[in-house]
Amino acid sequence: MKDRVYSTSLDAASIGETVTVTGWISKIRNLGAIRFIDLRDRKGIVQLVLSDKFDIDLRNEYVVKASGTVRKRETPNPRLKSGEIEIECESLMVLSKAVTTPLIIADETDALEDTRLKYRYLDLRRPVNQNYLDIRHKIKLATHEYLSSQGFIEVETPILTLSTPEGARDYLVPSRTKKGNFYALPQSPQIFKQLLMIGGIEKYYQIARCFRDEDLRSDRQPEFTQIDIEMSFMDQDEILSLNEGLIKEIFSKSIGYEVETPFKRISYKDAIELYGTDKPDTRFDLKLVDVKPILHSSEFNGFHAEAVKAIVIPGAAPTASRKVVDELSSEARKYLADGVVTLKMDKARQLDGSIMKFISIGMENSLIYTLNLKKDDLVIIAYGDYMRVSYFLGALRLKYGKELGLIKEDKYDFLWVVDFPLFEKDVEGSITSVHHPFTRPKEEDIPLLDTDPLKVLSSSYDLIINGYEAGGGSLRIYDEDIQKKIFKILGLSDEDIKNRFGFFMDAFKYGTPPHGGIALGLDRLTMLLGGTDNIRDVIAFPKNLNAICPTSGAPAPVSEDQLDELGIEIKREDN
Ligand code: AMO
Repeated sequence: MKDRVYSTSLDAASIGETVTVTGWISKIRNLGAIRFIDLRDRKGIVQLVLSDKFDIDLRNEYVVKASGTVRKRETPNPRLKSGEIEIECESLMVLSKAVTTPLIIADETDALEDTRLKYRYLDLRRPVNQNYLDIRHKIKLATHEYLSSQGFIEVETPILTLSTPEGARDYLVPSRTKKGNFYALPQSPQIFKQLLMIGGIEKYYQIARCFRDEDLRSDRQPEFTQIDIEMSFMDQDEILSLNEGLIKEIFSKSIGYEVETPFKRISYKDAIELYGTDKPDTRFDLKLVDVKPILHSSEFNGFHAEAVKAIVIPGAAPTASRKVVDELSSEARKYLADGVVTLKMDKARQLDGSIMKFISIGMENSLIYTLNLKKDDLVIIAYGDYMRVSYFLGALRLKYGKELGLIKEDKYDFLWVVDFPLFEKDVEGSITSVHHPFTRPKEEDIPLLDTDPLKVLSSSYDLIINGYEAGGGSLRIYDEDIQKKIFKILGLSDEDIKNRFGFFMDAFKYGTPPHGGIALGLDRLTMLLGGTDNIRDVIAFPKNLNAICPTSGAPAPVSEDQLDELGIEIKREDN
């Protein structure tokens, strides 16, 4: 359809032209002698006018092609790009009919997400969703352009591969040719991109699909996309500044937002200390304060715990009922903090709360001064294990930040969190990597690998945008001995190392350039740029929270023959 135009290209300047448009019927108003039709195409809506000479049955979502003359609209619609005009139809052809749709095709729909995802192809007709996909495309385009201009080339890496240790469960694919053996879908292209560095590619990127079988959340999908980057011979500052350039370009090209660089940086240690999280939302202040130095000599046992930290919620005292305080206690228990107490600044310069009997006048004055307390402020003090107390107060900080409207919604906030520990203990008490086992320890901490590995810091960085982890990366180990040592600390035997990473360790022997990189979450970037907090909105055909594809119904049983061919027998089955 050569001469077809989009609705949005029509305005007052088009009046008098003869045009052809195509699209879906979004709304019909029947005034007897005349019918007004809202025709929806990919870019917007235009009004068609049909005289009664058209004896044709039309319904919502019919696909039509209409030709006619553009004329001035009697009552303009300022909400539409083409709101000043309408098309007086001379011909109209139904290209395809439609039955009643199970959801309303408009930005405002009351359909449940389950229904929307089952009929995602209808859901995608809603302009809001088209906009997300458009932004996603623009991010990819800006990425290709920017990274190419910086000398990077896109290289694809295998999807059927060996397990990559990113900390999640693998999706496995059975092999037919080597029965009883499995490929793993990549959790990221990590190992291959490092091999590309050894292969002399020097500047690699890939818009890469990754697969992780993990618990899903509003910002996590089992199948997601990374802007994956790796480069040789560049130090951490160079990598961060390249990424700042990329982010600047992405924001400008996709939504016209001008980003200021360089981004702020904060160490992991300070992020936990001040914000109670490794992905702080620094669009608002409200920092956590260590009040142990003030309260440690109190007779209240809780204040003798490893950590005693406070957060001040401005003006919240009058509304903090008994119920709110009880809720705080049960919330604290969820985070395994030992306990929480509250104090109210009820009159000018006087604190009130049942715990006051354990707080001397000197301590009270110190609290008022250190926390800069004002009338009606609510002070929440949590005590117990350092990390648990910090996480708990970090979560409260976010909750109150949102509730009190402290977050400036029209602004994007960029932050590098740097200097993560190399290792941490998991819930079972075993040592695991904070990022992944290929992360380079800080040069000066290498001796600590033998004595106190949990103290070792790494050359790693996460990019945080508005409190979301938008990306993460590190400099890599390029020395076989250190790599082996890290695997050993992680509890791998020589045999495990050989079986799982032998091919990788071998490559180190042949001249490995110093290298490092990062992966940005494309889906998360699209969420941030599109202004949604639901990752499923920005993926054409997402999985639901049970990792099911509601559109196709996958996963699904396969035939006995297929299983037989793979040498597989099902031991247990979920329906
Ligand atoms: P990491 O595991 O931190 O690092 O992932 C990088 C970024 O990918 C995004 N992301 C996800 N997005 C949606 N759903 C998920 N399940 C999901 N998991 C991760 C996040 C995250 O910041 N190989 C390393 C990178 C490197 O070191 O270069 C890696 O994959 O935005």
